[in-house]
Amino acid sequence: MNAITTIDRAQREYSPGVKAALARKPQLYINGEWVDSSGGTLIDVEDPSNGKIVSSFCEATDKDVDRAVAAARAAFDDGRWRNLPPIQREKIMHRLADLIEANADEFAELEAIDVGKPKSMAGAVDVPGAVSHIRYMAGWAGKINGETIAPYSMPNGTIFGYTLKEPVGVCAQIVPWNFPLLMATLKISPALAAGCTTVLKPAEQTSLTALRLADMCHEAGIPAGVVNIITGYGHTAGDRMVKHPDVDKVAFTGSTEIGKLINRNATATLKHVTLELGGKSPVVVMPDVDVAETAPGIAGAIFFNSGQVCVAGSRLYAHKSVFDKVVEGMAETAEFWAPRASLDPAGHMGPLVSAEQHERVMGYIDAGKRDGATVLMGGDVPSSDGGYYVNPTILTDVNPQMSVVREEIFGPVVVAQRFDDLNDVVRQANDTPYGLAAGVWTRDVSAAVRIAAQLKAGTVWINTHAMIDTALPFGGYKESGIGHEQGRLGLEAYLETKSVIMKL
Ligand code: NAI
Ligand code: MG
Repeated sequence: MNAITTIDRAQREYSPGVKAALARKPQLYINGEWVDSSGGTLIDVEDPSNGKIVSSFCEATDKDVDRAVAAARAAFDDGRWRNLPPIQREKIMHRLADLIEANADEFAELEAIDVGKPKSMAGAVDVPGAVSHIRYMAGWAGKINGETIAPYSMPNGTIFGYTLKEPVGVCAQIVPWNFPLLMATLKISPALAAGCTTVLKPAEQTSLTALRLADMCHEAGIPAGVVNIITGYGHTAGDRMVKHPDVDKVAFTGSTEIGKLINRNATATLKHVTLELGGKSPVVVMPDVDVAETAPGIAGAIFFNSGQVCVAGSRLYAHKSVFDKVVEGMAETAEFWAPRASLDPAGHMGPLVSAEQHERVMGYIDAGKRDGATVLMGGDVPSSDGGYYVNPTILTDVNPQMSVVREEIFGPVVVAQRFDDLNDVVRQANDTPYGLAAGVWTRDVSAAVRIAAQLKAGTVWINTHAMIDTALPFGGYKESGIGHEQGRLGLEAYLETKSVIMKL
């Protein structure tokens, strides 16, 4: 562990391209133009690797939100996007993906500076993931069709009935800070493919890449007003977006608490709502696993992105016959996951995103200790130059009543529990208000399939974790969400269905 405590956590120098992006004038992207906010308030951009303020952006006012929604409304209503030949929407979306690819290095660095994640991770996961969401949905633009439907209660040949699939309208899209570019493209891509228009708000902690995305939308030739990107706080600008009478659909990713609030607020005007919320995802390790393969996989399930992942494998249930070896194997990855500054090329894990998040995560660790949990690894804060680091942490001797077991910590903290009853482990895994994801590790194929069927979660991984593919639908059971993103279902969340019935 000595090697870990002596890591130099000084942030590296930013590249010239990124410095230019940080020095840009704070503005909002509305109706195809960069415009000043009607208010003069700015929000700081902080580098969580050292706590330094490196830039700022606008705090959108109600007036700014109204202006953005009006632009999206006009762009939707006059059909400048939805009535384009689908081949053109598809082509423009691919152009947007091309531009992100061409600027991949800058996007990765900006994301690293803004979120604190290693640049190498942003380059390997966030940026290609963003491109993949756009390209996949671009392919749907020309494949949106209704069907002809034969009547049931009327004689055949007396009516002609068919359905039309139409874009739902103006969307308000609100994203969190853990995967800012990825989440922004996950939101705008199905909206664009469907023919919707949108106002997107990134999180107040991480708005840099969304602003660069606006540049790329412009350059790609997305018509004015189709994508509007505004920055600001959730309880003000976000709230205004959700309640706005000219918005038809709200798509949100973030905490379950805010998701419930947004659902209530959007209901007043019966907007369509999709919510991707929190999780406390169980990972079940069966007695037959190859520990050497499984332990690093399970460590990655929780320590990737400093555990700030909605699907993080944060509750481990390992069979008692392998528990000690599995947990030991996870502890052996401590050096690999030792937090480093986000631009340190040797890093695999960075700091947490903010002082607030750091305080929240350390608060959970302290609560766990007070409740009697044993800190098997980590649980402390490494030395640094003012960054928000937490060492990768394994807690054992926990019970189902502890807050560390019940609540989403959103940090590099796993609670490890042993089980002996194969029939009971599914019950334990399902003992949570969340239902976003779950994992099973075993070489027994029928056990894997049986357990996958019993887990109450929108995604179940077998012998892997957090493997996301844009073609597969992603959504939460229970309090982890409503509706789906990705895949065909993700597109359909942006479509209305109209039945047309003609008397013959
Ligand atoms: P949050 O849910 O408050 O923020 C997410 C987004 O919602 C941000 O863009 C924010 O500006 C916006 N927002 C906040 N209040 C709003 C409102 N009243 N109306 C409209 N938009 C609003 O998440 P926060 O506070 O950053 O993190 C708190 C906890 O939430 C984390 O510790 C973690 O447990 C969880 N979380 C889960 C995420 C996930 O991917 N499931 C992502 C981020 C946070
Ligand atoms: Mg919040």
